[in-house]
Amino acid sequence: MGDRLRVGVVGAGMIAGCHVRAYAADDDVDVVAVADPRTDKAQRLAGTVGADACADLDGVLDLDVDIVSVCTPPHSHADLTVRALAAGRHVLCEKPLAGSLADGRRIVEAARASDRVVMVGQVSRFEPEHRAAKDLVDGGYVGDVAMMLHSMTAPLPGWSEGGWLTDPRQSGGPLLDLSVHSFDYLAWLCGSPATRVHALAADSPVGPSTYTLTTVRYASGAMGQVEASWAHPAVRGFRAVVEVSGTAGRISWDYDSIAGGAMFLDGGETVPFDPLGERGYRREVAAMTHAVREGTPSPVPAEAGYDAMRTALAAHESLRTGEPVDLTTWKAS
Ligand SMILES: NC(=O)c1ccc[n+]([C@@H]2O[C@H](COP(=O)([O-])OP(=O)(O)OC[C@H]3O[C@@H](n4cnc5c(N)ncnc54)[C@H](O)[C@@H]3O)[C@@H](O)[C@H]2O)c1
Repeated sequence: MGDRLRVGVVGAGMIAGCHVRAYAADDDVDVVAVADPRTDKAQRLAGTVGADACADLDGVLDLDVDIVSVCTPPHSHADLTVRALAAGRHVLCEKPLAGSLADGRRIVEAARASDRVVMVGQVSRFEPEHRAAKDLVDGGYVGDVAMMLHSMTAPLPGWSEGGWLTDPRQSGGPLLDLSVHSFDYLAWLCGSPATRVHALAADSPVGPSTYTLTTVRYASGAMGQVEASWAHPAVRGFRAVVEVSGTAGRISWDYDSIAGGAMFLDGGETVPFDPLGERGYRREVAAMTHAVREGTPSPVPAEAGYDAMRTALAAHESLRTGEPVDLTTWKAS
């Protein structure tokens, strides 16, 4: 496919803005529609790229788009993705793949039955330093991966529409919202599926189980330690710390070092300065448009998104029972 690509974005919230800016960075892509029942938000975001605003997916499908970006809360991902696929569109679906295993399976089945590209927005794979570490591991520089640490900490997210993100029943809390990135990245990094998870959590002033710690065993024998928090100080914002150790070496990085600048504003306020900004989203979206143009396999297939969300939901089960969960046999509704 050599033609220009037409894109519709469903949802006009925080991540939709990242998708729109990432698509707009490609001169051969037109964002033609932004849909949100909050039509004021749809109009505002659509206006940044000269797209039409509409209220729902039907309005996007009417505009003859090639790609639908699903940028809505997780419980709506399955309906939107399955309907967009049925209408013959390629789909980039935000993480977590869905809010429940049943919804996740619906997406996997629809993706398998379709000849369209279905990609899950597991953006960690596209962050430059995360990608470079993957290249080093694949090149044998670390040897056999033995221990991995992936930590994502942030203050309580305050932006979501109607507060869905801070309602654990709608978002799954930090385990499904944040650690799903870690679960996907670490399994991909060591090239081996998770076989066992054991989770601990602690309450904080911002809510129950808002500090979490999960240990993961992989089929290869590697071990992962995954931290997530919504209760870290607001002054630093989102932070990641990663370490990968193996029989031949060790790699580590953290976002305080990579994007650790600060802006000192009149009035005494200090805010983090991140010159690298939204680099992962551009690479993620570029991988999607490349796969659509070239007819190549999905850069992050639905099955991978399903495995990551299943690991997160199993971590929830571990929290509930206080016991480890064996992922090779675990069945949940
Ligand atoms: N990859 C990342 O780093 C990252 C970061 C933030 C959010 N996300 C994911 O992106 C998704 C959206 O999160 P957000 O932070 O942008 O939330 P948000 O609340 O800022 O925006 C969601 C928008 O979707 C709209 N919406 C809800 N149902 C809809 C429907 N059926 N059709 C059209 N619009 C609908 C809401 O009105 C809202 O404006 C979630 O799955 C979240 O986990 C990913």
